[in-house]
Amino acid sequence: MSFFELVKKRRSCRKYLSRPIVRETLQRCLEAARLAPSACNSQPWHFIVVQGKFLKDELSRVAFSGVHSMNSFAKEAPVLVVVVRNKSLYSAQLGGQLRGTQYNLIDLGIACQHLILQAQEEGLGSCWIGWFDERAVKKILKVPRDKKVDIIISLGYSGEKLQEVKTRKLLSEISEFR
Ligand SMILES: Cc1cc2nc3c(=O)[nH]c(=O)nc-3n(C[C@H](O)[C@H](O)[C@H](O)COP(=O)(O)O)c2cc1C
Repeated sequence: MSFFELVKKRRSCRKYLSRPIVRETLQRCLEAARLAPSACNSQPWHFIVVQGKFLKDELSRVAFSGVHSMNSFAKEAPVLVVVVRNKSLYSAQLGGQLRGTQYNLIDLGIACQHLILQAQEEGLGSCWIGWFDERAVKKILKVPRDKKVDIIISLGYSGEKLQEVKTRKLLSEISEFR
């Protein structure tokens, strides 16, 4: 598949088969994330791959209940990747403060999308999940208080036929040539 085909094909997947994902496949997804660029090469990320049934059930229960239950579809995913955001290197932090830009968030987004596109290449479905109980997730995974967990990525073989048509603004609305 060409890169463009891959990008066009990727959709958020919210229904998963129970089929497990082999370690090598997950490692290639993580490797794609590892190779992502970042401000001052800070690499301000850490990926916790949760696939053990007991921990995953417990994590899903606390992450996606109450006001966060719209994401309870993720309980069925065989893998949840919890993305931990670290501080950037001091130079990137300083530059970011001067610019009013939070580079480590940009970095994290790039790395996550690398992971997700590799997952697509591997034939996996995925979904970015930004709405969950972060405090509970950090507690259960013992993530230090000074770190952020902005995103969880659900991964698994898709149990639904995803349409390739995407609802997007027109190119003319989002871009211009000068
Ligand atoms: C930062 C971010 C957070 C998101 N959070 C959620 C979420 O909490 N739950 C969910 O079902 N989808 C979530 N999504 C998926 C978006 O809804 C989805 O990408 C968008 O509607 C476009 O659809 P597509 O991914 O199928 O192309 C999130 C996506 C991003 C990039």
